[in-house]
Amino acid sequence: MHCLDNEKLPRHVAIIMDGNGRWAKTKNLPRIEGHVTGIESVRDIVTATRELGIPYLTLYAFSKENWVRPREEVQKLMGLLGVYLDKELPLLLEKGIRFKMIGEMKDFPKKLQEKMYSVMKKTAKNKDLTLNLALSYSGRQEILHAIVSLFEDVKKGSVKRINENVFKKYLYTGTIPDPDFLIRTSGEMRLSNFLLWQTAYTEIYVTKVLWPNFRKKHYLSALKEYTKRERRFGRVEEY
Ligand code: FPP
Repeated sequence: MHCLDNEKLPRHVAIIMDGNGRWAKTKNLPRIEGHVTGIESVRDIVTATRELGIPYLTLYAFSKENWVRPREEVQKLMGLLGVYLDKELPLLLEKGIRFKMIGEMKDFPKKLQEKMYSVMKKTAKNKDLTLNLALSYSGRQEILHAIVSLFEDVKKGSVKRINENVFKKYLYTGTIPDPDFLIRTSGEMRLSNFLLWQTAYTEIYVTKVLWPNFRKKHYLSALKEYTKRERRFGRVEEY
């Protein structure tokens, strides 16, 4: 049960899941344990999003810049991702959740790429929630890739006129609405190269709660705040 006005809920929520390392540090645990518990938060938030009927959720799980982390942490994160995909597939299928990877697929080990393609294929027809996982993702790279592909199509003659709507189609999120609401955990006030084009008019919410502690009750209070925000998209308020 929740007391949110369904009419006012966002259609697309994006989350920068931050603070796993700090969570582990407070408990004197290795950093990877923060990611392990972080996966439980992922499960909780995905399930809550599905229950609330919010149709799009985008989670920032691994940035293009994260590859330079210690080798052991990166390897373990890749392992966790593989386990996550294996373990979550039944839930994704049961709850009608479509899985999409957004980011540079080619950066991942072949086996993991195959796993991601397989989960995307098996869940492709699911319609209740689209879960985008941003992996090896960079907002600037995404924009550059879009420009290069658009340029190719202009050269071929299949695109004659460029405007915002045409450009948007070349982004990883080309077919879905821009995020209405962006949540960042652990208190940092940055976008960190996440969905740079798409967040032009997104409402931003930052909480000090570290990602492994961020669960449904925190999500509901964030969404409650969203329902009270007035979105103006550059216009003035009505008198
Ligand atoms: C940020 O915390 C978190 C990440 C870079 C990884 C996010 C990964 C997960 C939540 C688990 C894996 C998810 C899936 C779906 C397999 P940080 O390590 O930057 O924390 P810190 O800023 O406190 O050091």
